[in-house]
Amino acid sequence: MCGIVGYIGYNDSKEILLKGLEKLEYRGYDSAGIAVINNEGVHVFKEKGRIVDLRAAVDTNVEASTGIGHTRWATHGVPSKTNSHPHQSASGRFTLVHNGVIENYDLLKREYLQNVSMKSETDTEIIVQLVELFANDGLSTEEAFRKTLTLLHGSYALALIDNQDQETIYVAKNKSPLLVGLGFGFNVVASDAMAMLQVTDKYVELMDKEMVIVKKDEVTIQNLDGEVINREPYTAELDASDIEKGTYPHYMLKEIDEQPAVMRKIIQNYQDQNGELKIDANIVSAMNDADRIYIVAAGTSYHSGLVGKQFIEEMAQIPVEVHISSEFGYNMPLLSKKPLFIFLSQSGETADSRQVLVQVKEMGHKSLTITNVPGSTLSREADYTLLLHAGPEIAVASTKAYTAQLAVLAILAEVTGKSRGLELSFSLIQELGIVANAMDVLCDSKEEFEAIAREYLATTRNCFFIGRGIDYYVGLEGALKLKEISYIQAEGFAGGELKHGTIALIEDGTPIIALATQGFVNLSIRGNVKEVVARGANPCIISMEGLNMDEDRFVIPEVHQTLTPLISVVPMQLISYYAALHRDCDVDKPRNLAKSVTVE
Ligand code: M6R
Repeated sequence: MCGIVGYIGYNDSKEILLKGLEKLEYRGYDSAGIAVINNEGVHVFKEKGRIVDLRAAVDTNVEASTGIGHTRWATHGVPSKTNSHPHQSASGRFTLVHNGVIENYDLLKREYLQNVSMKSETDTEIIVQLVELFANDGLSTEEAFRKTLTLLHGSYALALIDNQDQETIYVAKNKSPLLVGLGFGFNVVASDAMAMLQVTDKYVELMDKEMVIVKKDEVTIQNLDGEVINREPYTAELDASDIEKGTYPHYMLKEIDEQPAVMRKIIQNYQDQNGELKIDANIVSAMNDADRIYIVAAGTSYHSGLVGKQFIEEMAQIPVEVHISSEFGYNMPLLSKKPLFIFLSQSGETADSRQVLVQVKEMGHKSLTITNVPGSTLSREADYTLLLHAGPEIAVASTKAYTAQLAVLAILAEVTGKSRGLELSFSLIQELGIVANAMDVLCDSKEEFEAIAREYLATTRNCFFIGRGIDYYVGLEGALKLKEISYIQAEGFAGGELKHGTIALIEDGTPIIALATQGFVNLSIRGNVKEVVARGANPCIISMEGLNMDEDRFVIPEVHQTLTPLISVVPMQLISYYAALHRDCDVDKPRNLAKSVTVE
C-alpha cells in the first residue's frame, strides 16, 4: 500500500509527479503529497484526500526539476495533512516519502531521537529524523542514509531529497516494491512501472536491501555495504491504453467487460503449435513430484484457490489444501512430505503471502506463483511463475484477475492430469472458448443485473449468498465483491449451513442470492432457498441453462459444469457494481481499502 514516485531531470517535475501519483492511487488514496526542490529550497505540498485535492493545493508558480511524491494508505496515524508524506527532518533539510512499515520505529525513537520533537504520528518520520541526526554528526547524506537503512526493521520503499543538493534522489527498498525508470537526461522512481509509463518504459528492478543514488543522467545501485551492483534494465510491456478508463465510467466495469478477451488471451498464451494446452515442463514435473499442494492466497485470490482445489483434485488427482496467507504464516498446518506451494496473487505483492513464501523457501520447499504482474516480488522469489495475462487490473475490487486465475488453474490441472495419464471427458480448450462466449452474453446483459441490484440491494442492510459445492465458493466471492464496494454487510454460506445458525438473521425481505449451477445439488440448494423463503427472505436465484426453473431470476448460459465459476461470478460482479452505484459509493476506490496490500 502507498505509492511513491520521484523525478529528476530538466523538465518541471510537478505534473510528472502528479500524473504518476494518479496512476498509483489504486495503492492508497487517503492523502497525498509532493516535494520539489529548486534554487529557493524545498517546496512541500500535501493534502488529505485524493490526488485531485493535492493538485488543487499545488502552487503552479513553483518550478523545479527534481521531486518526490506519495499517495497514502494510512498505517500509523490517521489520514490527515500532518501525517501525509513527504515528511521532513527537524531543520527541514531532508524530505522523505515511504511505503511500508517500520516495525522498530518506537525503539529507534527512544534510542536515538529522544531530543527530537516529532511532527507526525507516523513511523516514517523517524527515518528522516535519523538521516538528519547522522548528517549532523558529520556523515555525508549518502552515508547518513545508509546508516539509517541498516537500523530499520520492516518494509520500506524510500525516496529522499536533501535541500543542499538538487541533483540527487536517494532511494532504497526492502520488501516494498520499487523500480527506477531510465530516460534520456532524466530518471524516475516509482512503486509500479504504470506510474511513469508516461515518460519511460525502461526500468531497473531493485532487490531488497539495496539503495540507489539517482541523478538525472546516472543511476548507481549499491548494497548496504556500499558495493556497486550492475543490473540490466528491462522494457515494461505495458500498453498505455490498458491503464486508461477509455469511455467507461469506472475501471471495474471496464475490467468486467474485458473478461471474455482475457479468456481468449489465456487460451492463446497457453496453447502449443498443435493447439494443445501447454504448461512449462518444469512446473508440471514439480506438480507431479508433490504429494500435496498448498494453495496460499488472500481475499479474492483465496476464493479462486478454493475453486482451484476442485480443479486440481478433479483433473490431476493430487490432494490440495487452500489456506489464507495471513493465517498460514503463524499457524502452519502439519505439512506433507513433499509439498508444492502455489501462491495466487493478482498483484504478486501481497505481504501476507510473501511472508509465507519466505518461510517455505527457508524450509526448502518448491513454490509456484500465479500472478498478473511479471517481475512482481512473489514471481521473482518463487521457483516458478505462471502469468495471468489479464492486463493491468486497477479497480480495487478484483474481477478479471479472479476469472483469469481460474482459467490458468484449470489449464495447470488439465496439463498435469494429462502428464499422469488422466484424460478428461471434455476438451478444456474448447470449453474455455465456450466460457468466453458465455461471458460475452453476460456482459451484454447489464440492464438485467442493474435491475436486480436496484430491486434487491438499493436499500438493504445485509445480503446472503448461498450455494452448494463449487457454487458456495463463488458465493463467497460474490459476498466479498458486494461488501467491499457497496458496504452492504454480505456473507457467503454453504446452502446447508444456514439452518445451523445464520438462518436466525433472516427477516422479512432479507435478500438471498442463491446460485444453482450444479446439477447434483440443484434440488438441495432449491430446498435451502425454500427454508429461507419460509422465514421471509427475498430470494434471487441465479441458475444455469438446463437446470433452470420458473422461480429463477436469471439464467446463465450453459458451460461445462466444472467451469461454471468462471461465468457464474460475472453476475456477482455486475450486481455488486450496480449496487454500489445505486448507493453512491466510490466503486473503484472503496473506503479504507487499497489495491495491493503490501503490509502484513
Ligand atoms: O494481489 P492479490 O491477489 O494477492 O490480493 C489479494 C487481496 O488483497 C485481493 O484479492 C482483495 O481481496 C481484493 N480487493 C478483492 O476484490
